[in-house]
Amino acid sequence: MGKKCLITSALLYVNGTPHLGHVIGCLLPADVCARFKRLQGDEVLFIGGTDEHGTASEFGALKAGLPVEVYCEQNHMMHRKLYEGLNLSMDYCGRTSSKQNQEIVYRIFSALDKNGYITEKTIEQVYSIDDQQFLADRYIVGTCPYCGYENARGDQCEHCTKVLDPTELKNARSAISGSSHLEVRKTKHLFLDLPKLQSLIEKWVKTREFMWPDLSYTIAQKWLKEGLKERCITRDLKWGFPVNKPGYEDKVFYVWFDAPIGYIGITKQWSDEDPEHRHWEDWWLKPDDVTYIEFMGKDNVPFHSVSFPGTLMGTGEPWTLVSQLKGVSYLNFNGGKFSKSAGRGVFLDDALKEFPADYWRYWMMANMPETSDVNFKFDAFAGQINKDLNDVLGNFVNRVMKMTQSNFGLVVPEGGALTDEEKQLYATLADLISKYTQYMNDLEWRKALATLREIWVEGNNYIARTEPWKVAKTDKQRAACILRTGLNLIRIEAILLSPIMPTFAKEILSLLKLPEPTGWVNAQDINKEMSYLAPNTELGEPRLIFSKITPEMVTSLSEKYHENDVKE
Ligand code: 2FM
Ligand code: ZN
Repeated sequence: MGKKCLITSALLYVNGTPHLGHVIGCLLPADVCARFKRLQGDEVLFIGGTDEHGTASEFGALKAGLPVEVYCEQNHMMHRKLYEGLNLSMDYCGRTSSKQNQEIVYRIFSALDKNGYITEKTIEQVYSIDDQQFLADRYIVGTCPYCGYENARGDQCEHCTKVLDPTELKNARSAISGSSHLEVRKTKHLFLDLPKLQSLIEKWVKTREFMWPDLSYTIAQKWLKEGLKERCITRDLKWGFPVNKPGYEDKVFYVWFDAPIGYIGITKQWSDEDPEHRHWEDWWLKPDDVTYIEFMGKDNVPFHSVSFPGTLMGTGEPWTLVSQLKGVSYLNFNGGKFSKSAGRGVFLDDALKEFPADYWRYWMMANMPETSDVNFKFDAFAGQINKDLNDVLGNFVNRVMKMTQSNFGLVVPEGGALTDEEKQLYATLADLISKYTQYMNDLEWRKALATLREIWVEGNNYIARTEPWKVAKTDKQRAACILRTGLNLIRIEAILLSPIMPTFAKEILSLLKLPEPTGWVNAQDINKEMSYLAPNTELGEPRLIFSKITPEMVTSLSEKYHENDVKE
């Protein structure tokens, strides 16, 4: 086995259905990375799951009329099914509410407390007498003092976007019961002393300067420069892990304390299922053996680049800390936010009904919001699928297969020596494949996908230049060499494509009667790679792999998903 590579995707909140914006930021790139690293021979552990604690789940359960445990379990299974539909190759899809996570949370909290990084404070919070609970800011609703919107949340008015303090709301009431029987009460809480950890975190973040993409590093630096504040890690709620400290037993840990620790807890869930072969400590407590890569949306970056590493460092134990941290901007829908309640945006359940998972996977990887937000539009989506996959890649595969069949039957043609044309193609391919590999290693998705497309274009250009359909009439040997070259290039293209579009890659390989790939393409040994398919090897029947999205489909999808509705 090669190097150990731990990969985590941000754990989505269990309430609510994932939409394309969630998928693009964490689940999909984590999967592409995991598939790529496996093909490179690394020992990969890809961990994901659902983030389950906190008021959002309590509230969701209440609306669904279910006990919160049942609600979380059902929604977890819904997430899991959708992840399978998207063909995510997670080694384990776990839950932050697991007993294993509780064990790790307690262990980490106790170490932080022992080391003097936990402080106590009394704060004032809104209490709902009828709900018999303290309310988080966003669960207090009322009339916005700025725009008059009647359902403004205590943390922010969704209508005019002003950030609010719940005490500013007029006619404040509980979002849970609607009761306006509220009062401000004093309550004692535990805080993580991030200011005390600041210099330790700063030194460590500096070591990541050239490992993290700019976006992540800049966000971390911004937080550090502003100066870290103490962070409240407990809540007056019922749904969560009860705090393991005398005097706090009726409180629970804050969802953002136990969520990132969930990566470890979920690894332990995985390990507990087969303790003879799997050891979670090998991944989390032997940092020199492991490269750890995290994926998330940019709003999650501060927690992963500063608070979570600080939490781990404060224990004094040698936890694995993140090596590459990929945060990305947002995917919008017609310039606005995805919203299930407004019926706007494409959610994963619907997306998978409309098109094969691989179409979405390709479009999202090619349009990753790496430097700024990206907008989803059905016509652009269709344009890219039709052009890149049908006209370029699909066309190349189909023409080479068809010309081979009509001139030589369903076998790899024999004969014909390589000419300068092929030697030139090999050199170009070697260069592009090594660039592509490097971009994939660096998690530079847009550059990687642009390079992959260049490889496809090279294939088409080669066929256009060498004109095997004409040559076959006069020089069979030469045509054999050209088509053999084309067939070998199809194999390489399928392998390079497989982390992104695993199902279509497999189908393309099946045209060559080849199994799923087990290794990456070696650009240094392009001659060997390009002669993998020996003369007379049997081929499968040619068939079209991709199909086009028609303008009529675009119009009807655009209407169905309210693409042109006014944005928020
Ligand atoms: O933003 C979110 O969806 C959070 N649930 C992400 C948590 S990531 C990790 F910490 F679990
Ligand atoms: Zn407002």
